[in-house]
Amino acid sequence: MKAYTLITGASQGFGKALAIEYAKKMMNLVLVSLPNSGLPTLSDFLKTNFKIDVLYFEIDLSSKENCMNLYQEVKNENISIKYLINNAGMLSKGLFEDMNEDYFLTQINVNVATPTLLTKLFINDFKLNAPSGILNVSSMASFFHLPKKQVYGGTKAYLLSFSKSLRKELKPYNISVSIVCPGGMNTTTGLCLQNRGLSWISKQSIMNPEDVAKITIKKFNKGKEVIIPGSVNKTFMFLDSLLPAKIKNRLTKNAI
Ligand SMILES: NC(=O)c1ccc[n+]([C@@H]2O[C@H](COP(=O)([O-])OP(=O)(O)OC[C@H]3O[C@@H](n4cnc5c(N)ncnc54)[C@H](OP(=O)(O)O)[C@@H]3O)[C@@H](O)[C@H]2O)c1
Repeated sequence: MKAYTLITGASQGFGKALAIEYAKKMMNLVLVSLPNSGLPTLSDFLKTNFKIDVLYFEIDLSSKENCMNLYQEVKNENISIKYLINNAGMLSKGLFEDMNEDYFLTQINVNVATPTLLTKLFINDFKLNAPSGILNVSSMASFFHLPKKQVYGGTKAYLLSFSKSLRKELKPYNISVSIVCPGGMNTTTGLCLQNRGLSWISKQSIMNPEDVAKITIKKFNKGKEVIIPGSVNKTFMFLDSLLPAKIKNRLTKNAI
């Protein structure tokens, strides 16, 4: 049975950059995103230019039922998954009291429940294809408790904790679990504009998704547990381990 890499949220941004990097490495791909987000065009482009097999599914992954359907559709194709990249995510920025409840409940589903369920559904595929792996896309927001990113940061902190525990459990099966924590990336037009208005210190960490994808796949292939792309983000982590809480709180208060 042919082995594939499944990438959620592959239509644009970081997911698309990861899909292109995997295609360059001649990996067959299963791409998933919301309907009408350009996946057929991206699939054709990758198939034609990299001579790989690409399947795509336009599915809203915010419900359990749709995740189960995705699993079934993949099984119907008689293929198996060697690498799962849980990238689909909903971002948010704003005061908690102003947040729309429906938005943050869906966000918690997409950012937390969906990657957890997909990992569970494909676990036998990973065992069958070992050495295999799961890459969960978190964020630097999982480490720093930023104002206006309370729910988003919380969902990403869950992924960090989940991945670290699961990594220990799956090691004996030769299934590697990694987590990548990018800082800000210039993905959507909205984010590019938003990033321009950041404080000087936050701006230093902004990277292009293509660069982050290259670093991520290299480190994922080496089995690194927590991937922090970029020297500025690494410096932030180093300072975080040194600075007293009082100073960190003052710095992060105006960080976004
Ligand atoms: N951009 C940043 O600054 C940044 C920083 C750190 C971490 N991250 C993380 O990196 C990941 C990708 O971020 P990005 O900036 O590339 O985001 P993006 O450009 O908004 O792309 C998100 C992707 O997820 C898909 N998606 C969203 N909701 C979905 C759903 N319900 N069902 C299926 N697919 C869904 C989107 O599909 P459609 O195109 O169809 O909407 C899109 O392909 C996220 O997990 C994010 O939290 C981003």
